[in-house]
Amino acid sequence: MGELRLEELSAANIAAANALSLKPGQEQYVTPVSYSAAAAVLNPATAWQRVVVDGDDVVAFVQADFDPDAESEEFRSILWRINVDADDQGRGIGRFALNALADEARRRGMDALYVIWEPGELGPEAFFLRTGFQPVGETEYGETIGKLDL
Ligand SMILES: CC(C)(COP(=O)(O)OP(=O)(O)OC[C@H]1O[C@@H](n2cnc3c(N)ncnc32)[C@H](O)[C@@H]1OP(=O)(O)O)[C@@H](O)C(=O)NCCC(=O)NCCS
Repeated sequence: MGELRLEELSAANIAAANALSLKPGQEQYVTPVSYSAAAAVLNPATAWQRVVVDGDDVVAFVQADFDPDAESEEFRSILWRINVDADDQGRGIGRFALNALADEARRRGMDALYVIWEPGELGPEAFFLRTGFQPVGETEYGETIGKLDL
């Protein structure tokens, strides 16, 4: 693996971000990246979207939202989407993206980062627990709310 770097989601890399693949069975756990892009257009003031680039290849996409005025604490600093290309999973790229996001949250004065995940064997739960998130609650849909202290 070469040096990983972060780039803003832009016209130059959005096609590659949309083309990121998933492993069989992972679809139900992630909303398509195009949805995230649409959400950013609706909420440009608070969305934070980046791709991870390895050499010339886009290998991951990450989207978060920082909204200090949000009513509930978890929506002030929340990871909405993280997707590492199927062939590149298990190489530390998800952790790299998460660390970059945590740095950004700290820069913005946040003391925690939240994420909401759907429990399930092929889902991201093991990744989030391994990277330090602690379950702190549940949504009305039975999803887990995770918190990472920064
Ligand atoms: C979840 C996801 C982002 C993880 O990215 P990744 O690049 O494969 O993860 P990393 O290689 O950085 O792993 C970081 C740590 O988590 C652990 N981990 C990751 N996935 C794991 C799994 N399925 N089971 C057990 N441990 C896992 C790794 O072993 C590693 O631990 P270590 O650093 O102590 O060795 C990736 O699998 C993915 O894109 N999944 C599909 C989309 C999705 O479900 N996204 C989340 C919902 S928004």
